[in-house]
Amino acid sequence: MVIYLIGFMGCGKSTLGKPLARKMLLSFVDMDNYIEEKEGLTISEIFAQKGESYFRNIEKLTLHELSQRHNIVISTGGGVAAAEGNIEYMNSKGITIYLKMNSATLLSRLKDSKTVRPVFAGKSIEEMHEIITKMLLEREPFYDKANITISGINIKVTDIIDILKEVE
Ligand code: S3P
Repeated sequence: MVIYLIGFMGCGKSTLGKPLARKMLLSFVDMDNYIEEKEGLTISEIFAQKGESYFRNIEKLTLHELSQRHNIVISTGGGVAAAEGNIEYMNSKGITIYLKMNSATLLSRLKDSKTVRPVFAGKSIEEMHEIITKMLLEREPFYDKANITISGINIKVTDIIDILKEVE
């Protein structure tokens, strides 16, 4: 079984992925962390030194590499599902779960986040809100192709497990 957590930055993919994997006795990989280790650079450094398209390419390669594993929860980066062909690929390999939140909820979570995200570097709260709204509009058609969508302001691991039991 491969479970992919997808959704916008700040929706809780990494935070929920780890305990979800533990409770389901699956292994866990956070794609951003995996890429950082593989490249020996932080995500911000990859963006700055090699550019976004290099990062998107590495993301796709990493997605294909990790999808060969079994019994794993993969927390994807927010851009993974929104890149050409990736959501269809994930749906063909396993179960995709979209952790859906609206832009106001995402902003409130992202403004206090300790994770450094290149798209928000040096941006004011107002600018962040604009960016989130615009990107969410562009990405939602991709996210909406997930096998399962869970919405809410405070999604819990038990919510994900209950829904997975229902669809099994
Ligand atoms: C990105 C999301 C980030 C990270 C990078 C780009 C995006 O991951 O991959 O900063 O384009 O949505 P998280 O969704 O884990 O923050």
